[in-house]
Amino acid sequence: MTDVYPILQHPDPRLSQPGQPVEEVNDEIRAIIKKMFATHYAQSNCAALAATQLGVPLRITVIDFSHEKNEPLCLINPEIIERSTDMLNEFEGCMSVGGRINERVKRHQCIRVRALNEAGESFEIEASDFLSRCIQHEIDHLDGILFIDHLSGLKRKMVDRKFARRTQ
Ligand code: NI
Repeated sequence: MTDVYPILQHPDPRLSQPGQPVEEVNDEIRAIIKKMFATHYAQSNCAALAATQLGVPLRITVIDFSHEKNEPLCLINPEIIERSTDMLNEFEGCMSVGGRINERVKRHQCIRVRALNEAGESFEIEASDFLSRCIQHEIDHLDGILFIDHLSGLKRKMVDRKFARRTQ
């Protein structure tokens, strides 16, 4: 059995703490990434995970929403360097926000992202549609932001009420 991280659940305060940039991509970081992917692949319906939702306060995200789970993408210290003015407004959920809460969130349709790979090399990717939304959701995690933080006052209150009921 591969070692996996527990996934922190809202309202865990660690989910609101921004991650620190990775200073050097070394074997210790690569071991964290390996365990992050193991955690990701152990879930049944997971597109991506951020280190900050696994109790690891670093700016790393692992992404794979391919059917066969064989298209891993790891972004270390990801930064959005270009954004389209075209926006999307699709339903999102989150492994850290249980209770089948899915709400629409506005995201840029296309983004260009700069990050480091597992060898510590800088690279850029252009992402659109689902991948674009996914990366924006993950970078939010690295900034201590959950998708429910984007909801308008009334919607957010409804979500908060659901959580209040569940934790009673
Ligand atoms: Ni999430």
